[in-house]
Amino acid sequence: MSGGTQHWIARPGQPLRGTVRVPGDKSVSHRAVMLGALAEGTTHVRGFLEGEDTRATARVFEQLGVRIETPSASERIVHGVGLHGLRGIATPLDCGNAGTGMRLLAGVLAGQAFDSVLVGDASLSKRPMRRVIDPLARMGARIDAEEGGLPPLRIHGGQRLQGIEYTLPVASAQVKSALLLAGLYAQGDTVVREPHPTRDYTERMLAAFGWRIEFSPGYARLTACGRLVATDVNVPADFSSAAFFLVAASIVPGSELRLEAVGMNPRRTGLLTALRRMGADIVEDNATEQGGEPVADLVVRHAPLHGIEVGGDLAPDMIDEFPALFVAAACAQGATTIRDAAELRVKESDRIATMAQGLRALGVEVDEHPDGATIVSGPMAGGTVDSHGDHRIAMSFAVAAQRASGEVRIEDVANVATSFPGFDALARDTGIWLGQGA
Ligand code: S3P
Repeated sequence: MSGGTQHWIARPGQPLRGTVRVPGDKSVSHRAVMLGALAEGTTHVRGFLEGEDTRATARVFEQLGVRIETPSASERIVHGVGLHGLRGIATPLDCGNAGTGMRLLAGVLAGQAFDSVLVGDASLSKRPMRRVIDPLARMGARIDAEEGGLPPLRIHGGQRLQGIEYTLPVASAQVKSALLLAGLYAQGDTVVREPHPTRDYTERMLAAFGWRIEFSPGYARLTACGRLVATDVNVPADFSSAAFFLVAASIVPGSELRLEAVGMNPRRTGLLTALRRMGADIVEDNATEQGGEPVADLVVRHAPLHGIEVGGDLAPDMIDEFPALFVAAACAQGATTIRDAAELRVKESDRIATMAQGLRALGVEVDEHPDGATIVSGPMAGGTVDSHGDHRIAMSFAVAAQRASGEVRIEDVANVATSFPGFDALARDTGIWLGQGA
């Protein structure tokens, strides 16, 4: 979708209060549908994210012949067709806004007997795909892209895939996962090493579906030849969606908010580490396990924050949370410097540039670096910011506005529905002031 027509008006509301549960994890939801589709048997997914990204993935598998029922919202029953049961279709397969959908599907489809074409929206059509095409080609896949390695991807079926040993040049769970999924169809083991560990949901879920895989942070070895056996998946609440509330409650005086049953996979919770180093008051409560993943309630109270330096191994652990961190930094005492986060430039937007531009529009001093930025705290004024159709930028500025001295108009927000449908209503429930712009 273009997302170009919807705007928000945000301004300071009340201190954030109450208990909220954010929607299901996007990464886990994509993978649950994918592995459920390729498994033998029926996979019941609970807590599925009803976002446009994950629905697009489910729709693609339906187009490939997989029956998926929706007994109720946030629930899917995936009738697996087995590793070789997908059926090709001449129609292009639309991944919408989802980089995860397209890159992981490239791995799955590279191993099929039939040809397929993957397309995406305007933002996804500008995102780099060489990072999956090149290593998949080394496995024997044949994938054509547009100039510069951009979508659409034309994937030629009927190739014999070979396992590889591959060290990722850039830490990326999407690339790692694409290779592991192609490895399901390969002769010989597939070994992936990462420069920094990234989220390991593909590895964990493959193991839960009965595939032989060894993994540790930064390393995975997938054994050739096997079968996936259906298993139920309970999707935890998405830490990346909780992140906006962690920052909002931290920066608005008088706030005390409980976020229920948030997924706490250590490869996802880097923002928690960063915020605590900044002085945030966030306590974990009711820690437990849900479907093999750690979950906990997070209780966050307002606290004065101070600037820090963020980079190194922490960057991949909070790769989707930098927009929210920019906002925390703008409200912190002193400067915050972000390094080692050049990947932000190739997300749904160039997140370093869009956050810098938006914060400057509100009067905050930001210096951009090739791999990050320095944000100097200061009073925030009202103004107009452009989210560039990027869901996380839009939600970050709704949070920033809670500390602005005037009204903030946030443009191009429709894509919030890709990852967090209902964000605006939930935000209002907590005390955030957020309305539809004309
Ligand atoms: C994701 C991996 C991350 C992240 C994205 C979801 C995943 O991308 O930014 O939102 O589900 O594997 P990279 O692996 O490319 O950094």
